[in-house]
Amino acid sequence: MCGIIGYIGEKNATPILIEGLKRLEYRGYDSSGIGIISSGSHQLIIRKAPGKICDLESLIRSDHVPAASLGVSHTRWATHGAPNRVNAHPHSDSLRKIVIVHNGIIENYASLKKTLQAKGYKFVSETDTEVVAHLLRENLKKDLISAFRKTINQLKGSFALGVISQDHPDMLLAARIGSPLIIGVGKNENFIASDVPAILNQTKRVIYLKDEEFAVIRKDKIDVYDFAGKKVPAKITTVTFKLDAVEKQGYAHFMLKEIHEQADVLKQMLNSRVSNDHVHLDGLALSEKQIKGIKNIMIVACGTAYHAGLVGKYIIEKLANIPVAIDVSSEFRYRDPILDKSTLVVAISQSGETADTLAAVKEAKAKGAKILSIVNAVGSSLTRESDGVLYTHAGPEIGVASTKAYTAQLCMLYLLALKLGSIKKTLSQKEIRRFIKDLKSIPHLYHKILKHKQSIAAMAKDNSHFGCFLYLGRNINYPSALEGALKLKEISYIPAEGYAAGEMKHGPIALIDEYRAVVCIAVESPTYEKMISNIQEILSRKGKIIAIATEGDKTIQDHAHHVIYIPATNPLLTPLLTAIPLQLLAYYIAVNRGCDVDQPRNLAKSVTVE
Ligand code: AGP
Repeated sequence: MCGIIGYIGEKNATPILIEGLKRLEYRGYDSSGIGIISSGSHQLIIRKAPGKICDLESLIRSDHVPAASLGVSHTRWATHGAPNRVNAHPHSDSLRKIVIVHNGIIENYASLKKTLQAKGYKFVSETDTEVVAHLLRENLKKDLISAFRKTINQLKGSFALGVISQDHPDMLLAARIGSPLIIGVGKNENFIASDVPAILNQTKRVIYLKDEEFAVIRKDKIDVYDFAGKKVPAKITTVTFKLDAVEKQGYAHFMLKEIHEQADVLKQMLNSRVSNDHVHLDGLALSEKQIKGIKNIMIVACGTAYHAGLVGKYIIEKLANIPVAIDVSSEFRYRDPILDKSTLVVAISQSGETADTLAAVKEAKAKGAKILSIVNAVGSSLTRESDGVLYTHAGPEIGVASTKAYTAQLCMLYLLALKLGSIKKTLSQKEIRRFIKDLKSIPHLYHKILKHKQSIAAMAKDNSHFGCFLYLGRNINYPSALEGALKLKEISYIPAEGYAAGEMKHGPIALIDEYRAVVCIAVESPTYEKMISNIQEILSRKGKIIAIATEGDKTIQDHAHHVIYIPATNPLLTPLLTAIPLQLLAYYIAVNRGCDVDQPRNLAKSVTVE
């Protein structure tokens, strides 16, 4: 996934483009570049650099790049070709008069490249994007706009494009299909960006471009068309979240800030979606009759969102008595799933742009299933593919490792289960009232856990030398073990495996020795005694135990080398609480190992490629 910014107006474009790129670094950061048309001389200038955006910034400064009122810029997460200067965007046509920035994958680039090479076009990079620049040149007979429209209709795959031309210094072109792109609306200036935080300090008025739409953007006029060339309305939305929501606010990393935001996120969600012990799920878009007609639920998601879905399975089956299946999106879409009109597909995605989940949803729709999505990013592609959308409104999650989006997804799944249970009459109003009371206590319990973060930091320091971790959980905390392991591996690069504790004796126990740390989720629950048995089996093989336990449990101290306590709560709600110490443990271990916590190697915030 990559980040795109574009500017047209009366200010100097370069600082705006660089500032915007920095706010998109979480989307990909292995190389970056800018393309500008200088004011006055209308000279096309391109500067690109491998590495972080600050490397590009130093290059621009040392080159004394002239002022420009039109430009595009790009931060890359490599899909085709190594992350180096040549493959960095923007890419230009053969006459170096047009530059293009692109997010997505051009699936038919190889055949287009072959045709263009046969016509004598010379390629310098290994990217799919460069094909678009030469194809645009090939199509440019009369005017740029019709050539641009012809070009985007020849492309297959997913793309968000920004285009400028030295011969057309009064316009910025943009198009999207399958990758996000917004237009920022200013006064005598306009912007394009992959995501809102990139331009939030410039304007709060945005147009969310839809799939198969392109835009001709002048500093004082914006025209939006469909790919057939028909003009379409461009709705301007005012963004509500504030700029400081994307700043670190004094925390060492975005991830640590977002861990601390979870209490407020849940409180806000509960305040807006629960009143007088009734759950209001605006966006559910399913009538009571339709809900009563649901015979089964299929959850599709990736990564952390998948782990949230696993908890959702336990909860919905328990509270609403509806059979729930779940699959990772990338597998679901290839196994020809058996779905019909009585199936509700729940797609969970923080970004709403994950290619695998989008593809899974399209597959499910083709089979007649209703789609309900649980999404954080407003206006994202998944929301347009869904019949109903439950926004988590966790605010922008900048850290690549998901934290507040995860607990917000969990909370939304609890609310969905309560809603379904209430309509299907599998829960009494008394039981719902009790559950809501327990749910409303979670934000306060978060603060209690966070008060002990320094002891978790100290424990992390003592254990960050281990070369491998095993995470064990049972029942509703088995997904918590998977999520804890994912948090650790993706930010510290330590191999970490989450396992159902009952499965340990079927293989993983062979891993246990004094060089292994085992995180055991042994909170108060019907499976507590079995977790203690697991712990004793590990101790007898010299494994190091880090236990997550319930306050007041003294027994655990006889078995574990380290204990992180969580406050007592409804056993069904413990995944909401165990997430916090597991996030902190991973965070502090990664910091101890000097890892780039917010931008771990090889990762991107949203995987918009398959
Ligand atoms: C989570 O820490 C990871 N960054 C990753 O697994 C993520 O959850 C996954 O890519 C799904 O992203 P989505 O929620 O935006 O669809």
